[in-house]
Amino acid sequence: MTYQGLIQRYGQYLDLPAHTKNISLLEGNTPLIPMPRLSKEFGCELFVKFEGLNPTGSFKDRGMTAAISEAVGRGAKTVICASTGNTAASAAAYAARAGLRAIVLIPEGKVAAGKLAGAIAYGAEVIQIQGSFDDALTLVVEITQKTPIALVNSINPYRIEGQKTAAFEICDVLGEAPDWLCLPVGNAGNITSYWAGFKQYQKGLPQVLGVQAAGAAPLVLGHPVEKPETIATAIRIGKPARGEQALEAAQESNGRIIAVSDEEILSAQRILASEGVWVEPASAAGLAGLIAESAKGAFDARGKKIVVVCTGHGLKDPSIITDAFQFPKIIPMNYDALLDVIGGA
Ligand code: F0G
Repeated sequence: MTYQGLIQRYGQYLDLPAHTKNISLLEGNTPLIPMPRLSKEFGCELFVKFEGLNPTGSFKDRGMTAAISEAVGRGAKTVICASTGNTAASAAAYAARAGLRAIVLIPEGKVAAGKLAGAIAYGAEVIQIQGSFDDALTLVVEITQKTPIALVNSINPYRIEGQKTAAFEICDVLGEAPDWLCLPVGNAGNITSYWAGFKQYQKGLPQVLGVQAAGAAPLVLGHPVEKPETIATAIRIGKPARGEQALEAAQESNGRIIAVSDEEILSAQRILASEGVWVEPASAAGLAGLIAESAKGAFDARGKKIVVVCTGHGLKDPSIITDAFQFPKIIPMNYDALLDVIGGA
């Protein structure tokens, strides 16, 4: 049978109500890409779980197929979310597929171009709020408590159910859980989902390294951050909704949550791209964390199986790259000019 999406593939492991009506864009089934150069450098087996290859370009589609399928089944007509961009694009796509109205609240001026374009293209009503993601989340929680509009942020338990499937897929490909799982942490839904997924699947447990951006690191600092700031706008979050569960996952797994600088994130993004995997900045945080911990001597990767979760595609945030590089040279349309500019073959 051809692949029919996550609910069909892993539905038996997901706690979804009987009324759930499967809405799928054939999300999931993303590759676990071996990274030979990084593996050699760290003396380990390193893989990237490339979640940027989901239908809307991020891991959010795993949770969204579940949340929208449940919402449709119970008769919801409108869904809403707060988002740093990827959840917005995903909610918009799945709502479009299901014929629902989608409203997405984003922090003004802080959402990468590819995400905003996606949300608009799929037909969501996009509203910019003069505040942060955390402020937007407070607003959508209030409106979904007072009206029949369905909330599809990861506070919604079905989002967590759907996102557990990434852990299942990793175990199915490797035959067991890896030794370490490194991933970015923003609102902390994903780390919560992976940990729940590994525990449920019973193929062993990884140690979990959760990585926040230094300017938005409430779980490292131990208190909310009122004005989070980072170039990794996807994880520009100061009050993670599932912060407690993220800390639990780190602690129970004998792992930890750390912070890395924007420079470290951008450097990890370049390293991944240099091995053929282009991810958005936030998605490079997992590798940035691994590199930072190894450099400090706090992480011995040798002989280990390590999965770095790359949550979103590089195309989501193209300006991060183009702003930092010289604009490509322009030459006259002739052979000599070409030879001249490349300086020989
Ligand atoms: N990576 C990317 C690319 C993201 O978009 C997000 C979250 C994360 C990592 C962190 O995941 O929140 O589950 O800890 N983006 C949300 C959004 C907040 O609105 O798209 P998390």
